[in-house]
Amino acid sequence: MADRKAMLERIRESFDISRRDAAQIVKNFHVEMKRGLEGRQSSLKMIPTYVDRPTGREKGKFIALDLGGTNFRLLALELKGGGRISVRLIRNFALRKEHITKKGTGLFDLLASSVKAFLKKSGFANSRDINLGFTFSFPIAQSGIASGTLVAWTKGFNAKGVVGKDVVSLLEQALVRNGISHVKVRALANDTVGTLIARSYSDHDCDVGVIIGTGTNACYAEKVKNIKKWEGPAPRTDNMIINIEWGNFNKLKLSCYDRLLDGKSGNPGEQIMEKMVSGMYLGKLCGIVLKDLVEKKYILHFLPRKASSKIAMLRSEDISAIQADKTGSLAGVRNILENIGIRLSSREDRKIIKEVCAIISRRAARICAAAVVSVIRKIDPFILRKHTIAIDGSVYEKYTGFSSNMRSFVKEILGAKACRLRLVLSKDGSGKGAAIIAAVANCEGA
Ligand code: GLC
Repeated sequence: MADRKAMLERIRESFDISRRDAAQIVKNFHVEMKRGLEGRQSSLKMIPTYVDRPTGREKGKFIALDLGGTNFRLLALELKGGGRISVRLIRNFALRKEHITKKGTGLFDLLASSVKAFLKKSGFANSRDINLGFTFSFPIAQSGIASGTLVAWTKGFNAKGVVGKDVVSLLEQALVRNGISHVKVRALANDTVGTLIARSYSDHDCDVGVIIGTGTNACYAEKVKNIKKWEGPAPRTDNMIINIEWGNFNKLKLSCYDRLLDGKSGNPGEQIMEKMVSGMYLGKLCGIVLKDLVEKKYILHFLPRKASSKIAMLRSEDISAIQADKTGSLAGVRNILENIGIRLSSREDRKIIKEVCAIISRRAARICAAAVVSVIRKIDPFILRKHTIAIDGSVYEKYTGFSSNMRSFVKEILGAKACRLRLVLSKDGSGKGAAIIAAVANCEGA
């Protein structure tokens, strides 16, 4: 028993993020942000997006195509001005493994044929020209409001022949191959940018967009004079949204378990923060820690050593459900274990499993809180103004205790000034935002 207590204490320590750690994260974040903005070597790519926030007056009918994970979605919507958006139709589509890992043309053909089918249902089919906003949530080096090349795949994607190519051209070619010539791709956006833009269409305090889902990332409105690497024409406003790609931030304290996870991943050394925070990895990370505890005989003693990897089958949704189990006997945890083939467990085992999941997800929420504070302090060092932080993503929205852990750590770090920050769940913004950018591009005749 004493052993188990000491073991849990060690795990707690290796996943702890104190206020002092948060201060260090903010400092490192600022160094990396500045380097990225200067075009120097940095784990933060700080990608200029060619757009600023909308005025709220943009109008028109648009289609949005939103690809960022194993699902993609299409939206038909109308911007009515005055910050009002009416969504006419939304459809979700699932990608199969072959779309993610085989030839890129297969992926883009699927997107194009889905657009074709969707147009028939949207009521827009007869319009002469249809403007499309394309949300593509991977690191893109943008070369215009509607062009940009894929720098690297993340989140387990590996479709061939896409890295280094302009993804808008790939989509347009696929549309033509599929017999669609009246759809024009007017905007290319990251999901964080879409989320920020969609919220700021009606909320002028919004200057940060965050995604905490399968992957994690954020963007914010930066003064153009601070974007030292920017060589393009000065935009009309003095600001431009920067896609930080914070999932790649690597100045964080790693535990031995994080190193194991990173080593086994398809992109070792990359997306370090994402591997500590996002839905794609939280389950895997808990699985690695728990497997170690099984092998060291701290939990589930009766499980034969060769069956220890069963515990590593937990998914992020399971981790969330484990934490939500408030029953005295932890019957919910028992069910989840049974589902992955572990039929026997003691209450003490289940208690430890629940505690480990809580430790790991609490760290994820605290890292996100420190990263949000870093971004706000970059925009407004003394936090003199109000800021809305628009957040979307399954982990933030659904994961037990995640958003409240995040808010309470923001409060701990900032004290009274935390009341100037509003963290708001902004659903479906990624697609809507791309449509708004398309509207901005349309007004500017881009
Ligand atoms: C990954 C992508 C990034 C995206 C994030 C959230 O980190 O690289 O572009 O914004 O996932 O979907």
